[in-house]
Amino acid sequence: DLNKEKGHCSNSAVVFDTSFLRRQAKIPESFVWPLSERPHPLEELEVPVVDLRGLFDGDETSISHAADAVRSACVRHGFFQVINHKVDAKVSSDALDAAGDFFKLPQSTKLRARRQPGSAWGYVGAHADRFASKLPWKETLTFGYDYSERRDGVLDYFTSKLGEGFEPMGRVYRRYCEAMKELSLSVMELLGISLGVGRGYYRQFFEDGSSIMRCNSYPPCQEPELALGTGPHCDPTALTILLQDQVDGLQVFTEGKWQAVRPVRRALVINIGDTFMALSNGRYKSCLHRAVVNSERERLSLAFFVCPRGDRVVRPPRELLLLEEEEEAVPRAFPDFTWAELLEFTQTHYRADTTTLQSFA
Ligand code: SIN
Ligand code: FE2
Repeated sequence: DLNKEKGHCSNSAVVFDTSFLRRQAKIPESFVWPLSERPHPLEELEVPVVDLRGLFDGDETSISHAADAVRSACVRHGFFQVINHKVDAKVSSDALDAAGDFFKLPQSTKLRARRQPGSAWGYVGAHADRFASKLPWKETLTFGYDYSERRDGVLDYFTSKLGEGFEPMGRVYRRYCEAMKELSLSVMELLGISLGVGRGYYRQFFEDGSSIMRCNSYPPCQEPELALGTGPHCDPTALTILLQDQVDGLQVFTEGKWQAVRPVRRALVINIGDTFMALSNGRYKSCLHRAVVNSERERLSLAFFVCPRGDRVVRPPRELLLLEEEEEAVPRAFPDFTWAELLEFTQTHYRADTTTLQSFA
């Protein structure tokens, strides 16, 4: 029973050949989500498109505009997009193309990188996620990006798992992850400014971090109204930087309804995860989101999950424990934890209706 496996890493045992699945007239029962969780008509979410040029140029007026836009989005739902982010267009398009090429490889090649029990990394065909009650209509490839060994960790991963022929792909992702790390630290500056704790505070906290990179492919689905690409979940990590192609699919649950985040060319979608929610003492939201599928086109997305170093204690700065005017203490939204503890918890527990942090705390 696949449902019994949710929340456990034994899900690496569940591998489906998506090209086989797509030839069936009807999708198997294990992909049919309960009615309450399925796609339904929805509105478009108001997601500010934040221009980062002023932040890089030191233009105070535009920095304060950007910080205001980020703050109002993050207190509402935690999603915003960034443009003029200094991530080279070629670095992004190479990474997206490499993902597209990878997922087109024969299943037997992809399975060389198959996720092993107990590991969060690797390739999986449709699998039961920690947050899924049914199987998601997607394939993913996940690997780590350790800031302390950033020259070669990613490259080694590709060549050791997939073979020497995958060195170019490893180089593409090494460059992409380096660019994501740089961008994430700039976004941390903007978040620090927006919360009034100073530009360097969160940047410093994440400078020696260790992130996770996930490539997603959502193949066309013959019955998209019954399936989901990624089930509803909150990201346990600090921030997610998402590069999506031009195919719709991402949706956020806020104000009591599912709302779509439409792709904006050259923009990257950023969302607050549970760990940053804790670092902001609950001021910034980590919201449920999911990805739907369609019957026409494959959708590709690349998610870079920003994490602190595993042993860092996640605790909000003192400024966020005081009420703005009265200097009066405000309660802690979440107790102290380390990223390693939360990660371990997410691999063994599952809640679809709340953030992982709420059940952990
Ligand atoms: C995710 O949140 O895990 C995936 C989002 C997406 O593919 O748009
Ligand atoms: Fe997510």
